[in-house]
Amino acid sequence: MHAREIRKGIHIIATVHWERRLFDSLVPLPDGTSYNAYLIRGSEGTALLDSTDPELRGELLEQLKTVDRLDYIVSHHSEQDHSGTIPDILARYPEATLLCSQKAGELLSTHLGIVPERIRVVADGERVSLGDKTLQFVYTPWVHWPETMVTYVPEDRCLFSCDFFGSHLATTDLYVTDKGRVYEAAKRYYAEIMMPFRTIIRKNLDKISEYDFEIIAPSHGPVYNEPGFILDAYRDWVSPTMKNEVVLPYISMHGSTRLMVNRLIDSLARHGVAVSAFDLAVTDIGKLAMSLVDAATLIVGTPTVHVGPHPAVYYAAHLANLLRPKLKYAAIVGSYGWSSKAIEQIAGLIPNLKVDVLGTVLQKGMPTAETYAHLDELAKAVAGAHEADKDVIKQ
Ligand code: FEO
Repeated sequence: MHAREIRKGIHIIATVHWERRLFDSLVPLPDGTSYNAYLIRGSEGTALLDSTDPELRGELLEQLKTVDRLDYIVSHHSEQDHSGTIPDILARYPEATLLCSQKAGELLSTHLGIVPERIRVVADGERVSLGDKTLQFVYTPWVHWPETMVTYVPEDRCLFSCDFFGSHLATTDLYVTDKGRVYEAAKRYYAEIMMPFRTIIRKNLDKISEYDFEIIAPSHGPVYNEPGFILDAYRDWVSPTMKNEVVLPYISMHGSTRLMVNRLIDSLARHGVAVSAFDLAVTDIGKLAMSLVDAATLIVGTPTVHVGPHPAVYYAAHLANLLRPKLKYAAIVGSYGWSSKAIEQIAGLIPNLKVDVLGTVLQKGMPTAETYAHLDELAKAVAGAHEADKDVIKQ
């Protein structure tokens, strides 16, 4: 990829990781990803905002080959997909000073071995002049590490947001052209990376809204030249409102739990409650995370392996607990062979989820007419809880 101008004197230096399929050895990347750095040339100085993943350092350095001097490199976020090539940049430009938040200074030293003499900590709100362009730094902690900040360039009304508003998309698109595709990718990104910090993200949204910008330039995915699109999406995702929807991760070994899940799905649908069900034997956990963004209820379906839940359910329950979605209600259903502690063990896996448990249906062996009646009662209880909850949007 070549450097592309987004405003006079401002270039995006995108490196596209087409083939990457896993981030942090955890997060699926069905559409690859990109790492965007930005080069800002003012009348009296030049700054590079962020860098790239070390695996793509050659592509970044190639795009900088005509840049003879760099006064500053700004690190918005210390995670290595944006900071991992900063040591190479500092070596290539010995005159450059690294600008970052106080916390980032500590992290960049400990994670990348950057010496303190190269680092200048900037304060929240501080401005650094490049002549006819200004870098104004705004601390936005916990999007998604404690040190994160963004940069505002008032002369060009650009906000450089790093991970904040990002989307894992490998694309040659400079700006958002396919809103549906970017919305999906940005929601997946929010679900997997940002959702645990929903409350502080809400505060950060208020904080940045004090700045007048017409472009949001993130460090993953395309640039937003209609910022309202992604700001509205984020406001929705962090709001207290939920959909009249159940997320139902489940697994079945010999079919009993699947029969129960199928009955529950049908019964919920009869009550007008939408269901997103995920067979954990084959599901993409990113899709599961996305569904957790705005669902009101989580229902786990599990068989019993020995006395506890299936290991895949352990994983999914632990993941949901980490992601801290805004859901308010939960239930557990499943089958067992001779004895089970599955309900107690699942309950112990989700202490972060402040949910009302609306019911449990645990069946020894194949479901019976009585089991199906209990599942119908559970579906009715879920529908009733949603109906009575002012935060659940009814269609
Ligand atoms: Fe794109 Fe948190 O790194």
